[in-house]
Amino acid sequence: MSELFDVINYPKDPANKSDLEKKHYPTIDMPASVKAWEPFEVKVTIGKELAHPNEGAHFIQWVELYFNEVLISRSELTPTIYEMPVDFRLKLGKSGTLRARARCNLHGIWEGSAELKIN
Ligand SMILES: [Fe+2]
Repeated sequence: MSELFDVINYPKDPANKSDLEKKHYPTIDMPASVKAWEPFEVKVTIGKELAHPNEGAHFIQWVELYFNEVLISRSELTPTIYEMPVDFRLKLGKSGTLRARARCNLHGIWEGSAELKIN
């Protein structure tokens, strides 16, 4: 499994995810319509399709949210106490790609993305 730490992992076939992929793939939820420079909420859930363990020996250590290549925010999570989703609040002036990255202490870094259209 050590190769999992050398790369950013994505589901190989998003339409047919393995259980490992379902537990680790970050899902980004946001409003369908966002106006330029108006604050909005983004929720990132790890394990939305299949719950990821949340205990000292196996847990999600952090979640980062990027706009294109720019890091907006990073949340450090404490196992057993923190519950998904991880909430972010932001405002943007142009459309682009939101990217969420999360690190599992056993299974490495995983990324999910969503296109954000600013009206
Ligand atoms: Fe894991």
